[in-house]
Amino acid sequence: MEQIQVRNAAAMKQPPKITSESITVGGKTYATDTFTNVTPTILEKTTRQLHLIPSHPIAIIKDLISTSFPDFKHYDKFSPVVTTKENFDDLCFSDDHPGRAVTDTYYLNEKIMLRTHTSAHQLQAMTESDKLLVTADVYRRDEIDASHYPVFHQMEGAQLFDTKTAVEDIRKSIAADLASSGASGSINTTDTTVITPENPKQDCHDEAAMLAVADHLKHSLNMMVRRLFAHEKDLQVRWIEAQFPFTSPSWEMEILYQGKWLEVLGSGVIKQDILKNAGKPDKIGWAFGLGLERLALVLFGIPDIRLFWSQDERFLRQFEPSQIQKFKPFSKYPACIKDISFWSNENFHENNFCEIVRDVAGDIAEDVQLLDEFVHPKTKKRSVCYRINYRSMDRNVTNVEINEIQEKLREEVVKRLKVELR
Ligand code: PHE
Repeated sequence: MEQIQVRNAAAMKQPPKITSESITVGGKTYATDTFTNVTPTILEKTTRQLHLIPSHPIAIIKDLISTSFPDFKHYDKFSPVVTTKENFDDLCFSDDHPGRAVTDTYYLNEKIMLRTHTSAHQLQAMTESDKLLVTADVYRRDEIDASHYPVFHQMEGAQLFDTKTAVEDIRKSIAADLASSGASGSINTTDTTVITPENPKQDCHDEAAMLAVADHLKHSLNMMVRRLFAHEKDLQVRWIEAQFPFTSPSWEMEILYQGKWLEVLGSGVIKQDILKNAGKPDKIGWAFGLGLERLALVLFGIPDIRLFWSQDERFLRQFEPSQIQKFKPFSKYPACIKDISFWSNENFHENNFCEIVRDVAGDIAEDVQLLDEFVHPKTKKRSVCYRINYRSMDRNVTNVEINEIQEKLREEVVKRLKVELR
């Protein structure tokens, strides 16, 4: 699967093509039919692979989460184009499940679609690994607001245990984990969920084994968020009951953010039919799927989900691999660029120059860079050229107004720095 993965990632970079008869994406061509509802804008997103850009917030969260699952096999290059069998049928979705509707899902044709969740790869990955992570871009037709976008990223995790020894294996594993854990942070977790007929144990499961698996699932995810939010004070986390076609019982984890409970992941005990289909009938296991944007919005303080798709350097340059830094807002208005050159003198210091720029332009001065400098061969005088980026945070600036500021700057520089303009 390793090779398929790498080939997929490279193929996905090719620009998709869409005609009335066919759609080419990831180097493969699919015939269209009456189900076809993907658009060029959506298909273009398949080339971006934000989770594979190391200094992108989505990839940073992905990497930080995976440190909580050190010996898990991590698949992050599956193609987003999947069959309806992989996305729905294999996961026990009923034929009339609303998720299948053309109003909710992007179809290339009746049988081929853009995955709506990373669970679409559970079965395939479970045939080869007992501990796995899958990270990928997922696609859903959805409402438009600051926290919804038709493309987002999920991370799936699953762990399988031998049914016979699960209780004992899990007891040891949790004890060892607690003994060695360096997790810090003051996190307040509540779990009032109970097993009910609406959210039942599967008949084929031994009760003790199922409860042990549920404990291990919640323990693993509680530890993961504690590590992730190590610097956050008093994070509130709660577990609530949920329903998924492919797990039972099922739960969701929510975190309290700005006074509202935010759903961050779905999880549960894997339906035994799926394990049978993966060739693992003697295993019992848990799975979870979490939304990376949700966590990144909270952790980086990013105000709008569209920013993740920004190709503006002022967004991308802010972040570094493996580090959570609070997002610094930048202006959406265009810049006006002006250069100034002068012969400097021995007393010249860049900070003094910048001080004058601030005095004259105020917050409209966004950036000052030394563009060029040289020493005259005869006079030994040093010439400098500075480039100033003028931009307002809240309005368009006019050329006339910037010219006036620049003129004033030229006067002040001569007056205060005693330099000679060129
Ligand atoms: N696939 C589910 C979703 O997208 C999340 C999930 C994954 C739930 C694994 C249970 C187990 O909402």
